[in-house]
Amino acid sequence: MKFILLFLMTAFLGSSLIGCKKDATSITPPIDYSQIKDINYSVHVQPLFNRYCTSCHGAQSPAAGLQLDSWDNLIRGSQYGEAIIPFDESNSLLLEMLTKNSNGPHPGEKGRPVPDSIETQFLGRWIGEGARNDDSQIPYKNAVNRLYVCNQDAGIISIINTDTKVVIRSVKLNEIGYSANPKPHDIVVEPGGEFWYVSLIGDGKVVKFNQDYEVIGEVDFPAAGLLAMHPTKDLLYVGHTLSLPNVPQTLGVIQRSSMTLQEISLPFSRPHALVADHSGKNIIFSSLVQSVLATIDTDMNPAEIAELFIISGPSRTLVQMNISPNDREIYLSSQLEEQLLVVDISDPTQINLTDSVRVGQHPWHPKFTPDGSRVYVGNNLSHTISVVNTSSREEKMQIGSGDGSDGLAEPHGLVISPEGDYVYVTNRNKNVPTEYTPRHDLGSNANSGTVVVINTLTNSIEKVLEIEKFPSGLAIYEE
Ligand code: HEC
Repeated sequence: MKFILLFLMTAFLGSSLIGCKKDATSITPPIDYSQIKDINYSVHVQPLFNRYCTSCHGAQSPAAGLQLDSWDNLIRGSQYGEAIIPFDESNSLLLEMLTKNSNGPHPGEKGRPVPDSIETQFLGRWIGEGARNDDSQIPYKNAVNRLYVCNQDAGIISIINTDTKVVIRSVKLNEIGYSANPKPHDIVVEPGGEFWYVSLIGDGKVVKFNQDYEVIGEVDFPAAGLLAMHPTKDLLYVGHTLSLPNVPQTLGVIQRSSMTLQEISLPFSRPHALVADHSGKNIIFSSLVQSVLATIDTDMNPAEIAELFIISGPSRTLVQMNISPNDREIYLSSQLEEQLLVVDISDPTQINLTDSVRVGQHPWHPKFTPDGSRVYVGNNLSHTISVVNTSSREEKMQIGSGDGSDGLAEPHGLVISPEGDYVYVTNRNKNVPTEYTPRHDLGSNANSGTVVVINTLTNSIEKVLEIEKFPSGLAIYEE
């Protein structure tokens, strides 16, 4: 009863504000959506949710945890993730449920009335115009704590708010001047959070963005791969992707303020793994195909190799590395050996391979926790995350069922929050048949990639965000 009353009231309010129809006998004159110039959430949008949705998505035991009874609740999303992404109606789940759901428009498959096509299009228009509230505010406009995630096959950067853990924006690269297949690969954020940088494998560029998702500058760099941000100097280092055949034998050094590039010729091929130490003194990188580690002493010449260290033993595929918070140890992932190599770099002129830790199959992107006690690494072929104790140098456990069904399906990139409370892992979920099945069949979303959120207190999966195709590199910024 309350619901009907509310509906009548909002319908009345709506019609009085947009001008009453001449036919005074009609109690609820149909709204002419094409005549609405400025959308007002309370007047035009909420009444649709009240009519079709809040019987199940109301305050009392809302279906999927999604409450559609106010703008604030709507933008909070469901227990799984966001319902809408401002400006991106095509990837907003709420609209996809009405237009792409395999069993027909939702909640029609539950035998309930559904918005007609004009009402649905109107909801799409509202989302496309920024899903604003009555004060014209865009959801999460000022959200500071963000995760930036590349979707390599979709050409989209997904921005996730790490407080609420929902997607708050999509940056569609082809809509801002890049190609149809730009292949965003890796991302880093400026230490103060003002700017972020993304490497585009397809377009052969490194692009600089501001916090409002606007392009500020770019440099050409063929087969751009992993990125490493210098913690104090105005420098950004860029390696080459492993996904293209003949890549230049160089490492890129970009001056961030001017976005100008200097290239370093290398005595070995395929620089891939790349890390800057915390003190800002050394940049360390290695070759994907040769067992060699090199350093650049940024106090000497930021574009010249200082030390070259040959790693003894069999041939390895060194994918990525990370350095301990005290800058003494490097953990380097060796894909072929299913190991993390432990390298002592406390004296950068005397680099030593000291140990190795067995992990899962195809370990890729290791990261130290901020206290240095643990290293997390995604095992791309085992569909798990290894947790390594750095004092005993042993794998403590593997997180995940191992069959991909829990969202850990071909884990790729990994970051840890500055507080150390969460690990975020991107998952490709690209193989056919897919390992992870998205919660709704929306026609073409079987291969949706995921971001798995792991709580480091329990080492368990807290949330699985379904994003776009082939998520790869990611970066976090938290105040
Ligand atoms: C008859 C009850 C019912 C009605 C009415 C209903 N829903 Fe749902 N909705 C559900 C249930 C149950 C789910 C959980 C998943 C499922 O079973 O499809 C759901 C799931 C969803 C989801 C996905 C949440 C997620 O993160 O997985 C969205 C979005 C959604 N509904 C939007 C709407 C919208 C918009 C309306 C109104 C146009 C609406 N629903 C009306 C029952 C309903």
